[in-house]
Amino acid sequence: MKILNFGSLNIDKVYAVEEIVKGGETIDSVSFSESVGGKGLNQSIAVAKAGGNIMYAGCVGKDGEILLQALKDNNVDTSLIKTVETASGQAIIQVDKHGQNCIILFHGANYEVDKAYIDEAMQDFAQGDILILQNEISNIDYIIEVAKAKQMKIYLNPSPINENLNKYNMQAIDGIFVNEHEGAYLADKEKVEDILDSLASKYPELEIILTFGDKGAYYRHKDINIFQPAYKVDAVDTTAAGDTFTGYFIALRQQGKSIEESLQKASKASSITVSRKGASISIPKIAEVD
Ligand code: RIB
Repeated sequence: MKILNFGSLNIDKVYAVEEIVKGGETIDSVSFSESVGGKGLNQSIAVAKAGGNIMYAGCVGKDGEILLQALKDNNVDTSLIKTVETASGQAIIQVDKHGQNCIILFHGANYEVDKAYIDEAMQDFAQGDILILQNEISNIDYIIEVAKAKQMKIYLNPSPINENLNKYNMQAIDGIFVNEHEGAYLADKEKVEDILDSLASKYPELEIILTFGDKGAYYRHKDINIFQPAYKVDAVDTTAAGDTFTGYFIALRQQGKSIEESLQKASKASSITVSRKGASISIPKIAEVD
């Protein structure tokens, strides 16, 4: 069984700030750094650090060598990644003194993913293989269609929320990773219990994982209902916390670990990620989590 992540690759431009800038304000930053990111890249590195084998598909520009190198350094197979003329995707990230972030995306090469490339990249995947998706690249509706026809198992992290989500065949998705905001959008409900109930009744076969910041994570699948409390840490930077959770959970489930153990270790790994600065660089290896 193979794992494919078809996702985004971003150069993260990270500004540490006292407070996140408000409309009409100009503020000073405390520091600046540049690092590799993209929800797809971060999740793949999390899968690999959790001991999983993973292949990556997506597009980078000619400035994307640093992104390819980071994946290679972390044992992610990059042979399916395409280099295009358009510059690589970027994320402008502010991190405040409480570790909270806000992110502006520039699609760049991430929106060069077209149908011909999708057909080519997915040709060697088949029934039972796992596909991980986020919402940061173009033509995701087509990727879902191809994966469904091949009977792959599809996990979706519908982030960021945008109008493209309405095009996706949610009935084809096997598992979803949402935070409280994404869950509220998809379910059109506010409270966590209502979100879970609504998603479960709309999509009865769907495995739902709802992460709720420093409170913990909820798992709902048919009659299985689990709450995994978060580990308490001093948050320095929450960037990639959700990506760590997603990558760890999928990797550990694929290794045959129980839902409970996978949730517990995914939660522990995310708590370590938020206690450090940066995105993929802050994701721990499984030995540290253990
Ligand atoms: O989830 C964090 C990631 O979101 C960042 O690395 C940034 O690139 C954006 O994709």
